[in-house]
Order: sequence, then C-alpha cells, then structure tokens
Amino acid sequence: MTETYRVTVEPLGREIDCRADQTILDACLRNGVWLPHSCTHGTCATCKVEVLDGDVDHGESSSFALMDFERDEGKTLVCCARPQSDVVIEADVDVDDSIEVFPVSDFTGTVVSIEDIALDTKRVVIEVDRDVAFNAGQYMRIFVPGHDVDRTYSMANPPTESRRLEFQIRRVAGGKATDGWVFSGLAVGDDVALAGPYGRFVLKRGGDAPAVLIAGGTGLAPIASMIRHALVNGEYAGHLTLYQGARTREWLYDVEAFRELEATYPDRFTYRPCLSEEEAEGFASGMVTDVLTADHETLRGYQGYVCGPPAMVEAALKALMGKRLFPRDIFREDFFNEGDKATGGVRSPLIKR
Ligand SMILES: Cc1cc2nc3c(=O)[nH]c(=O)nc-3n(C[C@H](O)[C@H](O)[C@H](O)COP(=O)(O)OP(=O)(O)OC[C@H]3O[C@@H](n4cnc5c(N)ncnc54)[C@H](O)[C@@H]3O)c2cc1C
Ligand code: FES
Repeated sequence: MTETYRVTVEPLGREIDCRADQTILDACLRNGVWLPHSCTHGTCATCKVEVLDGDVDHGESSSFALMDFERDEGKTLVCCARPQSDVVIEADVDVDDSIEVFPVSDFTGTVVSIEDIALDTKRVVIEVDRDVAFNAGQYMRIFVPGHDVDRTYSMANPPTESRRLEFQIRRVAGGKATDGWVFSGLAVGDDVALAGPYGRFVLKRGGDAPAVLIAGGTGLAPIASMIRHALVNGEYAGHLTLYQGARTREWLYDVEAFRELEATYPDRFTYRPCLSEEEAEGFASGMVTDVLTADHETLRGYQGYVCGPPAMVEAALKALMGKRLFPRDIFREDFFNEGDKATGGVRSPLIKR
C-alpha cells in the first residue's frame, strides 16, 4: 500500500494528507489549499517553495527551474515534489480575492466533436461526466492514452458552459499528445480522462480597467474564454482589445466569430487580427507586438493578458512594459512543452506571475 504523509503548509498552518506517489501541489489543490503554480510540469518555477522540515523527492523538476544549489538549500517545486516523510513547507501564498478557488478533481469525458480550424490546429470538444467549475483562463490536464503522461490544455469556452469543454490544440512535430494522439487517431466517441481546473491566468472578475489581450497561436484559447465570459456574461466592465497574431491567414482561426463579437459589442470590444508575413485586407500587417506598439502612445492604466509560445510571450511582455504597463498589471501564460523543459524554458525574472 502506498504510504500517506502529512504536509503542513506555512504560513497558512493548513495540514493535508499527501500520498507518497502524489505531488504536493496536487494534494493541496484537491484539498482546497491554493498554492501558486502555472505550468504544473516543473518548467516555470512559479511553484517553488522552501522545505522547512522533512524529505521530498524532487521528481521530474527541470534542472533549469530548480537548480542543484537550490535543492541543496531546501527548495523544491511542489508540482513535481512528492513527500518521503511528513513535511513542512513554506510557500509565498499571495491570495488574490478576485480568483475563486475551485478544488481540482478527476473527470471523464467523451469527444463530441473534433475539427480542423487552422493549419495544424484542431478544435476538440469534450463532454464531461459532470460540471467543471473553473475561472475563465484556466486549464485541464488531459491524460495521453498509452503513455504515463498528461498534457495541459486551456478551456476556450466560458465557465458557464461547464459540461462541454472546448480545447484548441496546435500540433507539435514529434509531440506525444498532439502528433502521436490528437492529430493521428483521436475521434468522436473516444473517452478521455482529465483533471482540473489548474492555473492562475484568469480574468480579474469585476474589473473595469481597459485591457489588451495578446494571443499567439492556440494561446487564443484561454483568452477566448475570458473574452466570451466578459462580454456575453458581463463579467468584466472594462474595454477589451484582442491582438491575435499569426504569420499568415491560414494560421488564424475564429476570425469571423470575433468580428461578430466586435459588431455586437462595439463599445466594449476591439478586434485586431495581425499577420506578420502576409498582407490581407481587414488584417493589420506586422507582429502583434509591433501593431500594439503603433496603436498606443501609452498603456498606463491598462491590464495586459498574454498567452502563447514562450518567445512570443516574452516579446509581448517587453512591448507592454515599454508602453508603461506596470508588471503587476500583466498576466501571462507560457505554453511550455517538454522541449522547453529540457532546454530551460524558464520564465523571465521580469515578472513573477
Ligand atoms: C498552462 C499551459 C496551457 C497550455 N494550453 C494549451 C492549449 O490550450 N493549446 C495548445 O495547443 N497547447 C497548450 N499548451 C501546450 C501543451 O500542454 C503541450 O505542451 C503541447 O501540446 C505539446 O504536447 P505534445 O505531447 O504533443 O509534445 P511533447 O511530447 O511535450 O513534445 C514537445 C516537443 O518537445 C520535444 N521533446 C520532448 N521531450 C524532449 C526532451 N527530453 N528533450 C528535448 N526535446 C524534447 C518533442 O520532440 C517535441 O518537439 C499549454 C501548455 C501549458 C504549460
Ligand atoms: S508550476 Fe511548478 S514549475 Fe511550473
């Protein structure tokens, strides 16, 4: 039988049980104890904590996100660390009251539709066995059949559609989940195992600051959820501007849907689709960062939400800060993969979250 240990989370003073084969983050999130996290795969270092007492196995933590000297100093990444005794950890728990905490749990689902929406990009809709409560922008871990791994995908639907989860998935050459499964066999009627919700890249509920939202590739998924929730469900009062970037038109998707939203909510939503390697009527020319920079003299007083491949997120971050956006008003989600983990896709120290 697998051993169970007691984990004490300071400064909260909360105690939870954690199996020896379970990560400390998983045990905490399933028990309603919120700890900062982003990638949940040992790459981003957001979940780094101090081990004050006891022993942990550092698991699959990237050696870039948790360096040898940090391990020696008693640090660990709770998304990978498993207890080997009773443990006391100290986390930098900054509770954000605008985020509701929904405990993580397991779900099963059935694929009800799967369609090609852009080059190497599919929309997969999964009907789950019961409602999934989540914040707009959060993601699920989806277990890849035949491999002892899971991959993370963000919901593109608003939280009000809690039984049918929409995922937008980009193929990665040589990838286990995408090349090896979603793009080579996943079909309507297939059963899927998921767990969630995870992440803190969420729309600040009830906010009224104007916001720019910058999406690269399928980084649009969590941002689409936020925009739909904000506009259709009235969850955010500030004006939203979406910058959706791609190299050419064949990579962009849901353009008409966003144009319709813009026509329906002209005072609340502006849509700026951008093409960096093609000129086309109705599309801005250039990288999203260049278009954004040209559009705004300053972004002081705005909020910024950025999601996509890590290099694009980093460039967008610099553009936003160059326009006077405070780091505390910038929220990001890097779509790290296993390649980033192996080669050190650690996030810029410029910004914590
Ligand atoms: C919070 C979060 C949310 C995300 N949401 C989405 C989303 O909504 N939509 C979406 O499309 N993606 C999303 N992603 C990315 C997604 O989770 C996967 O990383 C992506 O789909 C690739 O998975 P894969 O199994 O196909 O590729 P992987 O098997 O992870 O491989 C990725 C690449 O790395 C290479 N590689 C694998 N192992 C190594 C190694 N040891 N050394 C060097 N190279 C290696 C592979 O050959 C491949 O090229 C998200 C990521 C994060 C962190
Ligand atoms: S959440 Fe643990 S390293 Fe990213």
